[in-house]
Amino acid sequence: MHVAIIMDGNGRWAERRGLRRTAGHEAGARTVRRVVEAAVRANIDVLTLYAFSSDNWSRPADEVDRVMWLFRRYLQSEAAHCVENGVRISVIGQRERLTLGLRRIIEQAEQVTAGGRRLTLQLAVDYSARNAIIRAAHSLSLDSGSDETSGDMDRGTSQSFAKRIADAMHSQVDESSVDLLIRTGGERRLSDFLLWECAYAELVFVDAYWPDFGEAAFQAALEEFDRRERRFGGLSGSRPAQLAGDAI
Ligand code: FPP
Repeated sequence: MHVAIIMDGNGRWAERRGLRRTAGHEAGARTVRRVVEAAVRANIDVLTLYAFSSDNWSRPADEVDRVMWLFRRYLQSEAAHCVENGVRISVIGQRERLTLGLRRIIEQAEQVTAGGRRLTLQLAVDYSARNAIIRAAHSLSLDSGSDETSGDMDRGTSQSFAKRIADAMHSQVDESSVDLLIRTGGERRLSDFLLWECAYAELVFVDAYWPDFGEAAFQAALEEFDRRERRFGGLSGSRPAQLAGDAI
């Protein structure tokens, strides 16, 4: 079970309280800790959190600096707690564009938590799904012997192209398809997050701002997922005559 979350609404949460937007990100970082614990208790295999998109670099420098600082502090302060809870941390995105200091802290957190078997926590930082797809297409263009260049869409080509996308963002997850995508903050869009991986994801939009999202809301989203019937393009209750692509 792979759950992905677009953690939206930090700024509005703070503005409603007459606080600076960065106070919303601070509250949001506390929510991350709570939701990771809830995901472990719910036996989720992979939890991917959208912490910073490649387009977020256009925000004011003090906001960007604060989010990066919170991210760094999270990795430093939570790694030991993650080890205790069997959580493996993995950072996806264009990490080569992050500062050397932050990259070292990421590598340390990944190393220390590498043995975690209960939950893989993927933190998406400087992440862009379009960028991942473009990079995957570029890697394919350099690999003319690959079956994927035939243009046929079957399970094999779909899986190997998915692997190129995962590699482009340094993802360590073998099966990257998202089962459930949650977006907080009331907006209903994907914002360049896991576009390929969400092909058959169930989408759950929640009005609560991210700092107000807790275990009860997370459980409610999982229950909503359980009520959905997933047909992957087929018909309810029928056996697929032909299996194609990712829709298997
Ligand atoms: C979106 O809310 C949130 C972000 C761009 C940053 C998310 C960062 C954190 C939760 C903290 C650091 C991360 C970790 C993993 C500890 P927004 O600012 O766009 O909210 P708005 O739509 O109300 O303006």
